[in-house]
Amino acid sequence: MKSLSTRRRHPLAAFAVLALGLAFAGALFAAFVSPAASADTGESAAQQLANGKALYISSCSSCHGPNAEGTSLGPSLVGVGSAAVDFQVSTGRMPAKQLGPQVQAHPDVFSAEQVNDMAAFVQSLGGGPQIPDASQYSTDANSVSLGGVLFRENCTYCHNFAGEGGALTDGKFAPALTGTDPKAIYEAMLTGPQNMPVFNDQVMPPAEKQAIISYIVTSRTQPNYGGAGLGRLGPVSEGLFIWTVGLIALLLCAVWIAAHTTKASAEKVAKATAAKAGK
Ligand code: HEC
Ligand code: HEC
Repeated sequence: MKSLSTRRRHPLAAFAVLALGLAFAGALFAAFVSPAASADTGESAAQQLANGKALYISSCSSCHGPNAEGTSLGPSLVGVGSAAVDFQVSTGRMPAKQLGPQVQAHPDVFSAEQVNDMAAFVQSLGGGPQIPDASQYSTDANSVSLGGVLFRENCTYCHNFAGEGGALTDGKFAPALTGTDPKAIYEAMLTGPQNMPVFNDQVMPPAEKQAIISYIVTSRTQPNYGGAGLGRLGPVSEGLFIWTVGLIALLLCAVWIAAHTTKASAEKVAKATAAKAGK
């Protein structure tokens, strides 16, 4: 008993207790945070959150705030979910380079692992839609026609009927979907970036999202049965084509006819004068 109380007064006792307490808290935290999030990278979940937070602080906090609460330069990220982070960063929109009506995409600067780390960190702040797994956005040949119907109902008025994109108001635009990764298509529907509506699972069940992805991906490899695709931009480019090419062709015909009629009538006049003179 006596030896214990002397050891308790040992100058290092307080540090030993603190270290034990910290180790216990760390173990408890690791046990409660799902390890599945980082199964593919081999990092522990706590390590992933720490890395994600460090990346977030250095690359994102200047606009989104040190606690992702938002600033005058960028919205709050609490509750946007890992899907929004994965979408924004892996399509090169974030970290935003210059602010305007719509943040422009530029080449992605982060590795897939770094994106996952930041996504896990933001997910830990307030939940939100999660990054889908590969089975959710794989294409299914049997749902292409259903996907076409859903795409025309929900997406064409912004992205054009062939997914070529189009202009919106105030300098914003809906981008072409001709090169977008299937995972990013799923995430765009889940999170609704900018002006795009959110197609969450209540509005559009996962099977319908998968059908739309199947349609978009399959339509990329379809030939243009009507001849030249003209960018598949629809009536605007077709109208422009017929205006410029068709109208110029008609004009040339008119000039040709006019030139030939005057020549022919000039010859007629000359013949008539010659005949009169000969009489
Ligand atoms: C220069 C400022 C700036 C920086 C740096 C920046 N963002 Fe953003 N971020 C914005 C703005 C502005 C928006 C709103 C964009 C829009 O609506 O087009 C936004 C939107 C987002 C969204 C979408 C939010 C939602 O509601 O769906 C996510 C997610 C996001 N940013 C994550 C990040 C991450 C992760 C980083 C760091 C890698 C980052 N941002 C760096 C300015 C910035
Ligand atoms: C009201 C207009 C609107 C509708 C409807 C809409 N979108 Fe969008 N979509 C947008 C805008 C605007 C963006 C660009 C957002 C940004 O850059 O932050 C976008 C971006 C996207 C992107 C990202 C493309 C890329 O390469 O980065 C995908 C994918 C997408 N939309 C798919 C869809 C699908 C699928 C539907 C139908 C289920 C749909 N959208 C309906 C406006 C719309």
